Amino acid sequence: MAVAVLNPTQLLKPRAERVIAAIDVGSSKVAALVAMADGENMPRVIGAGVRASNGLKRGLVADMAKTEAAIRAAMMQAEKAAGVEIESVLVNLSAGGLDSDVTSVEIDIAGHKISEVDMDALLKAGRARIDETISRAGRSTLHAEPTLYTIDGLDGVTNPRGFHADRLAVDIHVLTAATPPCRNLDLAVRNAHLDVEAIVASGVASSASVLNSEERELGVAVVEIGAGVTTVAVHGGGMLAGLVSIPMGAGDITADIASSFATRRAAAERLKTLSGAATSSPRDNHDMVEVPPLDPDDGQESRRIPRSELIAVIRARLDLLFGEVDSALKEIGFTGAAGRQVVLTGGGAELRGIADFAQGALSRNVRIGRPRGLAGLPEAQSTAAFATLAGMILHGSQPRLDLARMPVSRGGRGGRPQPKNAFFRLLDQLKRQI
Ligand SMILES: Nc1ncnc2c1ncn2[C@@H]1O[C@H](COP(=O)(O)OP(=O)(O)OP(=O)(O)O)[C@@H](O)[C@H]1O
Ligand SMILES: [Mg+2]
Repeated sequence: MAVAVLNPTQLLKPRAERVIAAIDVGSSKVAALVAMADGENMPRVIGAGVRASNGLKRGLVADMAKTEAAIRAAMMQAEKAAGVEIESVLVNLSAGGLDSDVTSVEIDIAGHKISEVDMDALLKAGRARIDETISRAGRSTLHAEPTLYTIDGLDGVTNPRGFHADRLAVDIHVLTAATPPCRNLDLAVRNAHLDVEAIVASGVASSASVLNSEERELGVAVVEIGAGVTTVAVHGGGMLAGLVSIPMGAGDITADIASSFATRRAAAERLKTLSGAATSSPRDNHDMVEVPPLDPDDGQESRRIPRSELIAVIRARLDLLFGEVDSALKEIGFTGAAGRQVVLTGGGAELRGIADFAQGALSRNVRIGRPRGLAGLPEAQSTAAFATLAGMILHGSQPRLDLARMPVSRGGRGGRPQPKNAFFRLLDQLKRQI
């Protein structure tokens, strides 16, 4: 008689779902998302909320009261839709001197078999090294994730447990930012009566929702055009290779239209989104668009201008912006065969014709990246402007080992201390999954 052999994993109960919440604090909007995630299946969105933001400048908190009010309102809307009360959130940082680096640490194993004790010692040594260098530089660590291990010079090992070795080393991917912007963001969220679970770099989050693993492996740059900031995140070999933040965005196009045609910002915004484009055709010389006056109460009338004039103003700003993007890509080393694919996202990527423009300006393949990987994402949140928000949920729903969350002094990161054994609980959780 055949006996059914049960795989041990079949005996495990499905992983418990947990509520995960994120808030995108942007220069033009503050958006919140609440989802259910079990770390295995696609997270399910259960609530969303959006508010206009006017408390930020170039991605940094400039008006605390306005920022916290927008955070509170957006999250309350999402909580109401979800029917849950949120205590802590993931929040993004787009500017503030973000920097991505890899640190290596090594310990002596003396020829024996690598055990959990050695792994813990290695990761603790890694944390100590990071603390020493980061806090000495007056910066805050957003994340410090062990990537690949090296055993006696053999690199690229994903799990060194059980191998005999003399030396064990690990590469740790460290993402840092200047401390004051982190503290201000943290304060704005806490003033809105929410705890900060983690600060995620916007480029890291948007990459999580617009890239596929093949692109990350082969080499890809995510260019996120926000209202006030454009972030460039380069990936290669499955890892983040560099991050640059440019203090220019789609809001500058609006400002240029407003000043070039002497109209209000709100009218300029409408002209840009409804009639604007990044590419032109001969027809645009004949198509006329209406420009509302600066002050309609003053008896001024609307003017009509050829659409080509509007497009010329937009393209002039895009020339500047993509000049900066190209320099950033070169600075990170995104060149040659591994530097061919660019994904544009952020609200600015919704501008008509921008992929064609960028393809010409950067001489690389360009596609538009809209958020994917979440079930039940409302249509209103499915545009490129919400890539960061959706990406935070995806980033936060994956179990990950982050040395920045070990329970030692966080070197000025701000906020309340983590529970004493959080790191070890996280380690245990990961060990069970390997
Ligand atoms: N259809 C569209 N056409 C042109 N521009 C658009 C369109 N939709 C949105 N935008 C522009 O995208 C910008 C907003 O993008 P996004 O929501 O990504 O910015 P943000 O996250 O608020 O700001 P930041 O990330 O810079 O702090 C605005 O300037 C808006 O005009
Ligand atoms: Mg943004």
